[in-house]
Amino acid sequence: MTATKLLGDLLRERGVSRRAFLKYASYVTSLMALPPSAAAAMADGLAKAHRQAVIWLSFQECTGCTESLTRSFSPTLEELIFDFISLDYHETLQAASGEAAEAARHASMRENKGKYIVVVDGSVPTADGGVYSVIAGRTNLDVLAETVADAAAVIAVGTCASFGGLPAAKPNPTGAVPVSELVRGKPLINIPGCPPMPQAMAGTIAQILAFGKLPELDALNRPRAFFGETIHDRCYRRPFYERGMFAKSFDDRGARDGWCLYELGCKGPVTYNACASLKWNGGVSFPIQSGHGCIGCSEPRFWDRGGLYRPLSAGTTDAGRVIAIAAAAGVALGAGSAALARRRSAATRALDETRTKQE
Ligand code: SF4
Ligand code: SF4
Ligand code: F3S
Repeated sequence: MTATKLLGDLLRERGVSRRAFLKYASYVTSLMALPPSAAAAMADGLAKAHRQAVIWLSFQECTGCTESLTRSFSPTLEELIFDFISLDYHETLQAASGEAAEAARHASMRENKGKYIVVVDGSVPTADGGVYSVIAGRTNLDVLAETVADAAAVIAVGTCASFGGLPAAKPNPTGAVPVSELVRGKPLINIPGCPPMPQAMAGTIAQILAFGKLPELDALNRPRAFFGETIHDRCYRRPFYERGMFAKSFDDRGARDGWCLYELGCKGPVTYNACASLKWNGGVSFPIQSGHGCIGCSEPRFWDRGGLYRPLSAGTTDAGRVIAIAAAAGVALGAGSAALARRRSAATRALDETRTKQE
């Protein structure tokens, strides 16, 4: 359980060649929008890294986030990531159960004090003392507070953990809150999406291991490499949007011919995620390509923002007006983002300080 072996040695033992390793590093650096020259540095960084201890906590969630990572169609990337980490506790994936599982979590916290990463999926119920979700007889609030106390960093995966997600949808009977509302004084990364893209989860962890610091984050603490552009920015239906050609129903001729789904409720113009460029299921498709508008699943309060099928505007074919409304929505998001950014920039600095002390 203690993270002693170097990753480079581990991979060599498993027959991973230097060439294959470099190829993987090139892939990750391109995912992270780093210059090609960073590939060799990433390969060296990963080779010299110790196997990272990770404790994965699942709270109010549906297991979709774990499914996304483990059932992905890009096994090379995600399998390698599992080689890079020591997943010491994960309720769905671990063999141990009951007291043995809790003992494994405590042992990892003890042995990797100050160095382990806590990954959280699911929101945390706070109403009525947090009684709506308990593990081993303890509330999620308790388990989270105990586990993050000696962590090096916290990664909230999925929209539930990042922003509250579905459990926090109105009327939010359990008082569900995102991890960021509870964790203070720790570096925190949000990787939202319902579920999040496996490349975003794996690539972020790989970058932390290789370079020993957080990737560049946006105002909502999301890695810029994966959340720097909207779905709309990269959507293949965009030319139809620009020409004001909008599908009127999901099965009309326009929808089948690739016309824009804006009037059918697509939230792509205000949703930051990499689906349109990386796509799902091994690069096969993404919601819009499958004929459905983006529902904004990686954004805060996506469930409560006026209806999944209601257009961002009142529904217009005036492309100029559409753009204006989308831009206004972007400004509104940006204002909220700026406030969060101010709260979180201190945490980002804290990780660097923690790492520096450890070195
Ligand atoms: Fe499930 Fe979505 Fe929440 Fe992940 S973010 S736990 S996929 S509801
Ligand atoms: Fe694509 Fe939606 Fe933008 Fe239309 S509104 S171009 S379907 S992202
Ligand atoms: Fe979610 Fe929109 Fe991508 S609904 S999966 S962010 S296309």
